[in-house]
Amino acid sequence: MTELDLQLKNDFENLPEDFWDFKKATTRDLTHGLHYYPATMVYPISQNILKIVQEHTEINSLMDPFMGSGTVIVEGMLGGIHELYGTDLNPLAVLMSKVKTTKLSEQQIAYIQNDHKNLLITLSEKINKVADEFDNYIQTDLKLDITAKAEWGNSADKYIKQYFENKNKTFNFQSFTNLGFWFTPRVIILLQTIKNAIKKIDDLCIKDFLLIAFSETVRTVSNTRNSEFKLFRMRPDKVATFRPDVFEEYFKILDRNISKMQDFVSACKSNSQLHINFDDTRILNTIPDDSIDLVITSPPYGDSRTTVAYGQFSRLSLQWLDLDYTTQQDVINIDKNLLGGKPYIHKEQWSFLGSNTLVDTLERISDKDPFRADDVFSFYVDLDKCLYSITKKMKTKSYQFWVVGNRTVKLEKLFTDKIIAEMAVKYGLTHLFSFGRNILNKVMPSLNSPTNEKGLRVKTMTTETVVVLKKE
Ligand SMILES: C[S@@+](CC[C@H](N)C(=O)[O-])C[C@H]1O[C@@H](n2cnc3c(N)ncnc32)[C@H](O)[C@@H]1O
Repeated sequence: MTELDLQLKNDFENLPEDFWDFKKATTRDLTHGLHYYPATMVYPISQNILKIVQEHTEINSLMDPFMGSGTVIVEGMLGGIHELYGTDLNPLAVLMSKVKTTKLSEQQIAYIQNDHKNLLITLSEKINKVADEFDNYIQTDLKLDITAKAEWGNSADKYIKQYFENKNKTFNFQSFTNLGFWFTPRVIILLQTIKNAIKKIDDLCIKDFLLIAFSETVRTVSNTRNSEFKLFRMRPDKVATFRPDVFEEYFKILDRNISKMQDFVSACKSNSQLHINFDDTRILNTIPDDSIDLVITSPPYGDSRTTVAYGQFSRLSLQWLDLDYTTQQDVINIDKNLLGGKPYIHKEQWSFLGSNTLVDTLERISDKDPFRADDVFSFYVDLDKCLYSITKKMKTKSYQFWVVGNRTVKLEKLFTDKIIAEMAVKYGLTHLFSFGRNILNKVMPSLNSPTNEKGLRVKTMTTETVVVLKKE
């Protein structure tokens, strides 16, 4: 270890035991609070890692290769880092991170508060009437059950087209599979009106800022149960009587976001170069080799298809947003494309990753369920690819801070912190030290049944470990 390594180790290891728990920290200050996202990093973690490292060495470039909602990138801006790199394979995460890190000017904010809002207020009365008439047509004239999966649930687009054609009117709307299952007739008309108004705006920064408020509105006025990150529809009796005030919801979110953006603009004095991209961390095409001084990141836990479903969380928003760089099919497949999304079936390769801890655990899982073991292995194969590509982008003598959780599969704990440290050796990385933290208010289930046996519940992650690696 060099003098600097020792100083860092000393600083991190001599903090009070509960320092990293951030019991009283709010997580939604400044632009951190612009949009919800699953498994976000509590921002004081990256803020403090950055502060401590900056006390000892100059950091010019910071990367979060699993940037999610952009927490680390926002903190990098506030910390005055010159070059910031963020990547994610979820298009909603990319949009969110861009918006959270794009400072709006007073004129841009005034445009939103006056021109944009006034336009919608003017439209509101007329369009609410249209939405009610359409709802009447569906429920009273056609007598369709808006809670059923058939007819309205899976053919809403047919009825919308038919209604407006009969009236000799055109109404451009976003169509996607099961539109009516997730949205009631009036909500579709009102959401589409807001989206059409946003689409007409030329200023891309304003447009994206509004799209983020629109995206959150989509969730709150959809038929999903909003207390969950996964897609679960409300009970039919709830759907039947659900009449959200869509414009009101949108204005509420927009006003909150404007105030958070104003706070961010006041707090952030630096002008960082931002490189926020849709990219696969297994590849990282968008980042130059040997260019990064510091990584702070929290990778997915490896259960994107089940517990923390980033794709499911983002699906309705992305289907409505219809962003240029994604197709509707990509949106459906997000969880499959993330780390561990596709299973491998090559038992003989378990040891190739260089982690004995992983091999031992896979053997124990395999005794209980061989398919599950392959599933778990596929996640670590992917994670290993990320270790390689991330390290390639790093300068020599640079540090990587990995915030990881150790989940349980088939009652076997997967020590991802140890596995990462062991796999990293073959890429010329040294494991310097690790430190732990308690998770106090993460929005995720703290209990589940990994064996799918009723009544048998084990604790999942309530602690996280920060693994510190160095490129030699
Ligand atoms: C734990 S979350 C990161 C949360 C982030 N720290 C925040 O505060 O919002 C992990 C992220 O990794 C992304 N991800 C998973 N597999 C990926 C891959 N192969 N390439 C890029 N991003 C990926 C997911 O979309 C998700 O946003």
